[in-house]
Amino acid sequence: MTSLSTSLTELLGTRLPIIQAPMAGGITTPALVAAAGNAGALGSFGFAYTQPEAMARDIEAVRALTKAPINANFFVNAPPTPIDAGSQRDAIDAVAGYYAALGLPAPQPVKAPYAPDLDVQLNMIEDLKPEVLTFHLGDLPAVRLQRLRALGIKTGGSATCVEEARHLEALGVDFIIAQGGEAGGHRGSYLRNPYEAMTGTLALTRLIVRAVKIPVVAAGGIMDGAGIAAALALGAHGAQLGTAFIPCTESGAPAVHKQHLLAAREDTTTITEKFSGKPARGLANRYMREMNGANAPQLAFPAQNALTGPLRAASAKAGNPDFVSMWAGQAAPLAREMSAAQLVITLEHETLEAIERLSSLNR
Ligand SMILES: Cc1cc2nc3c(=O)[nH]c(=O)nc-3n(C[C@H](O)[C@H](O)[C@H](O)COP(=O)(O)O)c2cc1C
Repeated sequence: MTSLSTSLTELLGTRLPIIQAPMAGGITTPALVAAAGNAGALGSFGFAYTQPEAMARDIEAVRALTKAPINANFFVNAPPTPIDAGSQRDAIDAVAGYYAALGLPAPQPVKAPYAPDLDVQLNMIEDLKPEVLTFHLGDLPAVRLQRLRALGIKTGGSATCVEEARHLEALGVDFIIAQGGEAGGHRGSYLRNPYEAMTGTLALTRLIVRAVKIPVVAAGGIMDGAGIAAALALGAHGAQLGTAFIPCTESGAPAVHKQHLLAAREDTTTITEKFSGKPARGLANRYMREMNGANAPQLAFPAQNALTGPLRAASAKAGNPDFVSMWAGQAAPLAREMSAAQLVITLEHETLEAIERLSSLNR
């Protein structure tokens, strides 16, 4: 059988050029990461909202399930700035009705820190030594990247435009994730306005492949082997898939997220800042429509995420899709329900089939 090895598989030590995307907020359980890794992909933890002790527990749990390399992923946040009382009040007023609709106590002003401290997380990760570390929404200082490299950890960063990719290459990352506008979850943009850095995966991958010398991983709207083969045809060295892994048996996504994803139509994803304070793509629901429609007041990321946390959790727990963030990419209707191992093996076969089909064209 033809091998799918690329310079990315060589770099990461995986059998396949497929990355199960990091997905913060409880989706990327140790069982999911281990199953993806055991099947030949790179399993990734989305640790953005995970405290260091919980990261240690997750990594210990996954190490008991697999010898495969693993990826730990983080968000790069600007330091928290003080929020004035008026802004807190406006943002609270905008969501208070939704809290009441779920029978929750009225929302209270949020207090810093709104998310775990990245430096503390990274200091812990240097002890835990995952094989790979990726980051999103920003860059890491070159000294940190050097320290990670000295520990043998491969690093990758998300880019939503050529400028960000070149910047990351110059800082010393080992690979770039080219995140196209189709992608589910948060836009990784940090040098450009995210709404101006919405180039689709096909165009972005090709542009970034031509602009940098290090391996490039295409992300956004890739759900099957045809998509992975397309990414490889564009010159990418691998593909990162998020939405495709959400319905997997091992994924920790709330049942309501899985159900609505499996029922998604082409036109059901949209971008909102109203859940977290930064633009992210997901399945449209009442909260997104009303809050976007009213351009309701919001706090900056990640304070807004802290403000909506209890609402999202209660909505998910009640199986109510109205007030929970159900991040998903534009190819959501291609989502399939299976185990992560089955998905990775299916992706492998489909990719090989797609390559075979293309190579026999016009013969
Ligand atoms: C539910 C969800 C959560 C995500 N969380 C993260 C994250 O924590 N870190 C990250 O780098 N990317 C995150 N992403 C973005 C993915 O890395 C990737 O860019 C995206 O899933 C690719 O598009 P696709 O969903 O169409 O496959 C998330 C995506 C989804 C769907």
